[in-house]
Amino acid sequence: MMLTRRSFLAGAALAGGTAFAASSSWRGAAAEPRELRIPELIDARSQGQSISLKAQAGRTSFFPGRESRTLGYNGSYLGPTLRVHRGDDVEIAVTNALGEETSVHWHGLLIPGELDGGPHQMIRPGATWRPVLPIRQPAATLWYHSHVHGRTAEQVYAGLAGLLLVTDDDEKALGLPSEYGVDDLPLVLQDRQFESGRLILPEGMMTLMHGRRGDTLLVNGTANPVTRVPRRLVRLRLVIGSNARIYDLAFGDNRSFHWIASEGGLLERPIELRSLSLAPGERAEILVDFADGRPVVLETGPDTNAPMMMGMLARASDLIGHGWEPVLRFEPQGGAATGARVPERLVAHERLDASRAVGRRRFAMTMGMGGMMRGMMGGGMGMHGINGRAYDMERIDEEVRLGDVEIWEVSGEMMAHPFHIHGVHFEVLSRNGAPPGPRDQGLRDTVVAQEPVELLVRFTQPAVAAPFMYHCHILEHEDNGMMGQFVVR
Ligand code: C2O
Ligand code: CU
Ligand code: CU
Repeated sequence: MMLTRRSFLAGAALAGGTAFAASSSWRGAAAEPRELRIPELIDARSQGQSISLKAQAGRTSFFPGRESRTLGYNGSYLGPTLRVHRGDDVEIAVTNALGEETSVHWHGLLIPGELDGGPHQMIRPGATWRPVLPIRQPAATLWYHSHVHGRTAEQVYAGLAGLLLVTDDDEKALGLPSEYGVDDLPLVLQDRQFESGRLILPEGMMTLMHGRRGDTLLVNGTANPVTRVPRRLVRLRLVIGSNARIYDLAFGDNRSFHWIASEGGLLERPIELRSLSLAPGERAEILVDFADGRPVVLETGPDTNAPMMMGMLARASDLIGHGWEPVLRFEPQGGAATGARVPERLVAHERLDASRAVGRRRFAMTMGMGGMMRGMMGGGMGMHGINGRAYDMERIDEEVRLGDVEIWEVSGEMMAHPFHIHGVHFEVLSRNGAPPGPRDQGLRDTVVAQEPVELLVRFTQPAVAAPFMYHCHILEHEDNGMMGQFVVR
């Protein structure tokens, strides 16, 4: 279940139910602030290194008095946050209590292919899958989600996603804010479409072209969320669980914050920013100082990532966001405390030398009219693909040698696409021929590409019994063929 850890906070301002009953207008009730839900934390060490997850159907009230049919792990929407420790072996028993097949992918975990939870590790209804995951990587914010080929978008949209946190001694030694749900907040950002307060699944050509978008922003499944924070430095773990939307995040008062961790874990040193763009599949940890006690709203800019052609077919305002929108309101509480400080250095990274790269491969994420034409000529109507070919579970697209370092050059047709590679960490070597900017720093497993991006990829995990995937993390693109697979041996 999604727990309300700080339910004592549910004061008058948060009593949305009352406001709804008294309001004749649906819009008014929908706009009531709600206390941010914090998913339950399950620490593998307190469970004897064995965690149970059950994928199940349920009903969720995103708005008072309006129930939606949703999916979740151990609850009705999303799943618990799992914390695992570097060096441990953790069994996660996943039971499928859905009426359809599912799989659970550990996005960002460096583990062998057969444990990865991609489309080759399907769990039949009623069955339990019991991978034992060797945790051998630095502290990082990862996540887990459904990965059934052709059904990932719908299952994730309905709620099948959760957080997976890796922790280690290096991270603990830094003294970063780490009181879960208090000064270390997990924030799963999603946009969803509602009709009269009930979750609906948008369908159609637009959805296929630019991915499923929604008119409502949710954080941890909470609409119009507000959260109380202590008056000190707070760590936010931002996870983009949207199917397609790219976020452009900034605080309403334009305060700066420190970016401390990318997808692969902590950066070498904090980077001070005033805005941060994040795409589906990407994560970032930031430190925000609330010592001044002033309430502030985390906002996102307009969602403008759509093929040009679409703008001609529909008014841009029907397609994409409407200017700056609130994501989450923070209300600092209590006296100003002296808490954690922003460290000057975080962790040392072993730099990969690009001259060690043994080869280069190119991946163009292709879509739209180009893909349609190629599909018609090549048989098969695949609209989305990689290098013009739609994903085929029976076809191994690439073979890589275990231990190698390679340069992967990635680009995207018509719009920005978040490219994700399973089972690896990589660094951005260049973007559009130029050295990477601040946002491309750090170890990553997902990166936005439209203009060509060169990645230095290190293959440390075997994928022999089952391949790893690489794909666009716009889930509708992925489901419709913008994915390939590779073996590592
Ligand atoms: Cu987040 Cu292949 O997935
Ligand atoms: Cu992944
Ligand atoms: Cu895409």
